[in-house]
Amino acid sequence: MSRKKIIAGNWKLNMNQAETQSFLNEVSKKLNQNDLTQVQALVCPTFTSLATAATAIKESGLTIALGAQNFSQHKSGAYTGEINTEMLKEIGVTHVLVGHSERREHFSEDDSIINDKVKTGIEAGLQVILCCGESEATRESGETDAWVAGQIEAGIKGLELNDFASRITIAYEPIWAIGTGKVCDSAEANRVIKVIRAKLAELLDQTTADATSILYGGSVKSSNIDEIMGQSDIDGALVGGASIKVEEFPALVASAAREASKTVA
Ligand code: 13P
Repeated sequence: MSRKKIIAGNWKLNMNQAETQSFLNEVSKKLNQNDLTQVQALVCPTFTSLATAATAIKESGLTIALGAQNFSQHKSGAYTGEINTEMLKEIGVTHVLVGHSERREHFSEDDSIINDKVKTGIEAGLQVILCCGESEATRESGETDAWVAGQIEAGIKGLELNDFASRITIAYEPIWAIGTGKVCDSAEANRVIKVIRAKLAELLDQTTADATSILYGGSVKSSNIDEIMGQSDIDGALVGGASIKVEEFPALVASAAREASKTVA
């Protein structure tokens, strides 16, 4: 089954407008449009850098998608500090991250908020990347599979099959591997991703599960991406630190494109 390959950069709280502009100018010189036809490359800057990124991408002529790291589950009203999906779409945002462990941990986003955001994103016609992943303590207690399956079940609760098809991507990001340099063993990441796919098949159907791209995230960089992309069930990567390095991001995309051409061959 050939699924869409995706390399998504989550810039987190990094890169102001000037840095965004110069990063995307540099990166576009190194990215290859042929690779970008095989791989969906996505960048998720901060809110204030989104418009700058949209312009820089347009000027580059390259097929790079624009994502937001967060948004409100509310449409409008008295929600000081929030930004809604229509405001994002107006800038050219096509993708949103939902349920990142940093949002769950530092901003108290629970399964119910995450489920609301997934639904809001889908209703708005955005592509949703739903994140899940276990803490070190959960892994040590042997509960990883049940934990991650539970996060997926709660995250997609109430969605119709039609909502799901090609609109939702899952990212498996073990928390202990995020920003630590401690990448999850790729065979183990593949195993957990198979558990996630089996859960999708149980909750939806096998065809939808087989068609859903599932990414790995956590200390991905150019030196480990080939091994990660070589796994049967890993369809790409959600990348933090390495995604804001001019040499790294294009190398990650190139690796995913090599893997995509093998799948086609
Ligand atoms: P790092 O690639 O820096 O480990 O971050 C992963 C991540 O959280 C992407 O969303």
